[in-house]
Amino acid sequence: MKKNLVVGNMKMNPTSPAEFERYLDALEKEVKGKKFEKTEVVICPPAIYFKQFIDRKLKNVQLGAQNIFWEYQGAYTGEISSGMVKNMGAQYSMVGHSERRKYFGEDEEIINLKLKAILKSGLRAILCIGENIEERKRNQTVEVVKKQLREALNGVGAGKIEYVDIVYEPSWAVGSDNVPTSDEILEAKLIIKKILSEIYGHKAMERVRILYGGSIARCFVNQVCIDPAMDGGLVGRESLVPYEFIRIAETIDKN
Ligand code: 13P
Repeated sequence: MKKNLVVGNMKMNPTSPAEFERYLDALEKEVKGKKFEKTEVVICPPAIYFKQFIDRKLKNVQLGAQNIFWEYQGAYTGEISSGMVKNMGAQYSMVGHSERRKYFGEDEEIINLKLKAILKSGLRAILCIGENIEERKRNQTVEVVKKQLREALNGVGAGKIEYVDIVYEPSWAVGSDNVPTSDEILEAKLIIKKILSEIYGHKAMERVRILYGGSIARCFVNQVCIDPAMDGGLVGRESLVPYEFIRIAETIDKN
């Protein structure tokens, strides 16, 4: 049976190794001796802190990258490849996050290149899709989700799709404390499943985890993850507080 997945996206936080060390102290305290029965827990800190994370040797928390470049190595100033991330000991990389789309102009073509690079290096991909506020107002959620998913997965073979975890994360719900209703999330999930079925067939579709992301907090987790029977969640701000993050993971693990 596939496990749930709870991912903490720390974004561009914290600002010093000392602060990250304190974060790790608190996280270690929360997870020590804890057994998540049916949930994988992943933290995606800034890559500059990977070594610190690895050195902690936390048994029940895995490491993920927030972003990678699609080439494996070479003259690409400032970039980090998926191979480097993998060789540091990470198991996951995010791709397609709405902040990458908004601030760095990442479009479907770039996201597709990055997704394929992630899979090629042997990492699992956490692919984020979802509509922005204008698209929501124009009632375009269905077509946006369809387009983003189809184009991101272009050229990803049936043998690889089970290494892709898909997050429905509408950008208007990110950092806002506005969350969709359970029905809206369920609807997005069914669209994602339908497209996966069309491309890869029913059996392969059933193996793909579909998560929710956007303002997940303890007070919303039932509405946005449990009620629509999501396979987990992508947590932003609340992942910066280990106590809250682990309570969210536990709630998802118990349901
Ligand atoms: P918040 O949980 O802070 O809304 O961020 C969500 C997010 O962007 C996770 O990737």
